[in-house]
Amino acid sequence: MRKKIVAGNWKMNMELSEGVALATGINKYFKSEPLKEKEAILCTPFIHLGIVSTLLNAPGVTAGAQNCSEHKSGAYTGEVSAAMIRSTGASTVIIGHSERRSYYHEDDMLLAAKTAEALRNNLRVIFCCGEVLSEREDNNHFAVVKRQLEKGIFVLPEEEFRKCIIAYEPVWAIGTGVTATPAQAQEMHHFIRELVAGKYGKNVADDTTILYGGSCKASNAAELFANPDVDGGLIGGASLSREEFCNIVNAL
Ligand code: 13P
Repeated sequence: MRKKIVAGNWKMNMELSEGVALATGINKYFKSEPLKEKEAILCTPFIHLGIVSTLLNAPGVTAGAQNCSEHKSGAYTGEVSAAMIRSTGASTVIIGHSERRSYYHEDDMLLAAKTAEALRNNLRVIFCCGEVLSEREDNNHFAVVKRQLEKGIFVLPEEEFRKCIIAYEPVWAIGTGVTATPAQAQEMHHFIRELVAGKYGKNVADDTTILYGGSCKASNAAELFANPDVDGGLIGGASLSREEFCNIVNAL
């Protein structure tokens, strides 16, 4: 059976003490209300990762990063390797977020290299895909998502692909307050699962966790998560509040 997951993507928010306080609060909550058959992942900035990984000890609550280098180590000023991330105790890394794709020009080939490096270091990958508004308006959204997945993760052998979680994040819904309707989310998630089935077979597709991201919050999470192919969420803004985040996890 596939895992149900809510991952918080803190993006470039929270100074160290604020992030530690948020992670401590979330950890405390899930110690008193233990997660059953689901997982919460806090994807923090690199600065927070060591301390947050160490302090999280509620079952099913883990830490992750938001990016990693495609290189193993060496003279890459300002970069952080997958091995370094793993060494903090973090277990997961987000690759291919639309903000990385657009602001830092990360293309399909680079994202495939980052994914491979993360997997080599035993990190799970949350691989993001999603169309911009004009692509949806031109009815190209299925083709765009298909290309992103084919170039980024369908190049992997099955056992490596199984360590990937897919996040569908329509770019027009990120940080805009506009959410995909539950029907739009389900339609794309179903399409993605069919693509996985076509590439790796039905068993793998059934086991693949597909998260929705884009203005997901406590007030709309339940209706999004009620769809059969939506296995949880990748949450931006709403993951910066302990109460909102915990309520979204509870909605799953
Ligand atoms: P928002 O939840 O702020 O729309 O961000 C979604 C996102 O980009 C998560 O990775």
